[in-house]
Amino acid sequence: MTRRRRAIVPVAVLLAALVAACSADDAALPSLESDERPTSSAPTTAPAAGPGTEGADGVGDPYYPQAGNGGYDVERYDLDVDVTIRGTDHLDAVATVTLLPTQDLSTFHLDLLGFEVASLTVDDRPALFERQGRELVVAPPTPLRTGEQAIVRVAYSGTPGSTGSNQGGLIGDGGWVDLSDEWSTVIAEPVGAATWFPSNDHPSDKALVGVTATVPAPLEAVAGGRLVERRDEGATSTFRWEATEPMSPYLASLTVGDMQLADQPGPPGIRILNAVPLDRPDMLDGAVSRFPEMISFFSEHFGPYPFADAGNVVVPGLPPLALECQTRSVLALSIMDGGPGDTTADEVTAHELTHQWFGDAVGPAAWNAIWLNEGFATYGEWLWLEHIGGLAVEQSARRAHNGNPALDVPPADPGVDELFGASVYHRGGMFLVELRTLMGEDRFDELLRTWVDQHRFGVATTEQFLQLAAEIMGVPYDGSRIAVLSDAWLRSGRLPPLSF
Ligand code: TRP
Ligand code: ZN
Repeated sequence: MTRRRRAIVPVAVLLAALVAACSADDAALPSLESDERPTSSAPTTAPAAGPGTEGADGVGDPYYPQAGNGGYDVERYDLDVDVTIRGTDHLDAVATVTLLPTQDLSTFHLDLLGFEVASLTVDDRPALFERQGRELVVAPPTPLRTGEQAIVRVAYSGTPGSTGSNQGGLIGDGGWVDLSDEWSTVIAEPVGAATWFPSNDHPSDKALVGVTATVPAPLEAVAGGRLVERRDEGATSTFRWEATEPMSPYLASLTVGDMQLADQPGPPGIRILNAVPLDRPDMLDGAVSRFPEMISFFSEHFGPYPFADAGNVVVPGLPPLALECQTRSVLALSIMDGGPGDTTADEVTAHELTHQWFGDAVGPAAWNAIWLNEGFATYGEWLWLEHIGGLAVEQSARRAHNGNPALDVPPADPGVDELFGASVYHRGGMFLVELRTLMGEDRFDELLRTWVDQHRFGVATTEQFLQLAAEIMGVPYDGSRIAVLSDAWLRSGRLPPLSF
């Protein structure tokens, strides 16, 4: 084996690199400068209290109290964005948010960071609104009624990616990234959807997302789902992308750049489309060329690939990171561009693909359950490495079991600072290998398949996963070996020894 770089972790380091990269490039900076501090615009009389109740400013996430909002479920987002890419990125956008109130609402919130809101209507009638940090507070002319669909249309413009917080906060929270005069992308985990569209920015509210992006020719715009329309109109091109399955807002993405879009024959029923830099057609070789095989391989272990569309977008100008945007992962060129014998590109591609089952199809109910994403994706990475003739899964686990003090953090409640730390990734992965050893491979695969089957297009908790494991073992959870194992591996501080 050649030297094996850790594929994704520590993300904090990579994010720090991104901050540094941005600081080095003035063109990429303005969004960090918070020149777009949230301000009120248009009618800002305090929203009138009417009959009905005020929607909460968060869904109660223990790590991000203001992520998402209370009182409604979004059914779909239709985003119509005009992207200025030269100089500081600028959006001229209209977001149409179709939502279903779960309570009567005199006011409700959306999450939106920065931008000027030019107008806001609810069912085509002008509504009052107010800006409060990342909260866009809306007072519809008449209260929304439980179960009666409402259509909220927000016209907004400005610099995407603006948080009004410090640089670390911006990058750490994810969002739109202004890369150069020709490239931008969105890597919005965990709470960065609000940096480019008004949203219920929490994983627990999944909705369909349609993105219509107008960009200067000859650039291309790539989002998740399927390209359903493309219009070339001289100076600009317009791309309309439609996702056919609901997604968490942080998994919605849009990359603008000088790209080649390439279809790839996939397993039956799955449409694969990859996008790579125009000057790097070789990016379609290597790891990406094995992508269909990866889908088939993981389908054997995890059950059918959960979506109609699949693919990858390889983006230059980013530090070595990647994000599992739903149906089409964003992969930094810098992480895909290894030398001969470097398996990093394979591992990252496999990691993000594994997320399509774990993280995307089945999301975390709250951010403290992040190991359900990253522990599983790490396990997928190890499975693929073994499949291509690298380390056996147990060897990968042993190798990750090192003296790193960051492993002495409970993966099932790592805290915000360690949300993407080594414990969540590697200790989470080690726990799954321990569980597989305990259950046997067949029952373990059955567990993973049942898990995806039961929670597809929803979110779930650590407790639900452990309960299901016990159920498949045919034992009551309390006092079981699964309980003992998970207490030690997921909930205690100190890294336990491996049993193999
Ligand atoms: N989920 C990403 C992964 O696959 C890591 C990640 C978290 C990330 N937040 C991010 C990547 C923000 C880029 C930007 O491991
Ligand atoms: Zn991951």
